[in-house]
Amino acid sequence: MNIITFDSDEKLNEAAANIIVGQVQTIPRAVLGLATGGTPVGIYKQIVRDYERGMVSFRNVTTFNLDEYVNIPVDHPESYHSYMKSHLFDHIDLPESQRFIPNGNASNLDDECRRYDEAIELSGQIDLQLLGLGHNGHIGFNEPSHALIKGTHTVDLAEQTLEANARFFASIDEVPKQALTMGVGTILKAKKILLVVKGADKADIIKQALQGPITTDVPASLLQTHPNLIVLLDTAAAGKL
Ligand code: GLP
Repeated sequence: MNIITFDSDEKLNEAAANIIVGQVQTIPRAVLGLATGGTPVGIYKQIVRDYERGMVSFRNVTTFNLDEYVNIPVDHPESYHSYMKSHLFDHIDLPESQRFIPNGNASNLDDECRRYDEAIELSGQIDLQLLGLGHNGHIGFNEPSHALIKGTHTVDLAEQTLEANARFFASIDEVPKQALTMGVGTILKAKKILLVVKGADKADIIKQALQGPITTDVPASLLQTHPNLIVLLDTAAAGKL
């Protein structure tokens, strides 16, 4: 595991963007696993800047997002479909047919999960998976539990997750209660994982994830088993390591 700490948000975002752009530049048909949430916003901004400078093209890239809420209209401003469009997809040359996000409005969610896993399988392997970290140790929307699920599945969001994500909605009652998420098995199958964590409010959970026991109670702790994990932290998040 390679942990790097940054004293500025800008440097952290640049470093993360360099790693992602570097993969796209060096791997002929790169497959990227993408994340949402507050953490990657600045990283996507930096990637768009690199694209606008002509440093990189996404024409031959395929992307798979980690998760999407269930029963949120695709064009709702807080859907992860909208998030990805406004922060990244609308600004780069990634063809629409090569962007995958689980469909939380599918009439049969189990079929949708199966379809999503098949699409990932067909792509070969995710070259680089970008991850953020939930306050309860979730990755994607894999919540703490007595057991973790390997593939894409429907999940009931934890109370703490609803509270954390209420900031994006008018009230906590409007936060969707369920989501579709890639499973931990799929996440761990990525060739390389880039975990990015920012803020003092994540200092305890990142310590548990990286230095605590490997347990399904802290899904991110399973990342300790990955042979190619890069962790980028700001000084606040790294405060307790
Ligand atoms: C969200 C997403 C995760 C994200 C995490 C942390 O709910 N499902 O993929 O990494 O929670 O989000 P943030 O970066 O906003 O703290």
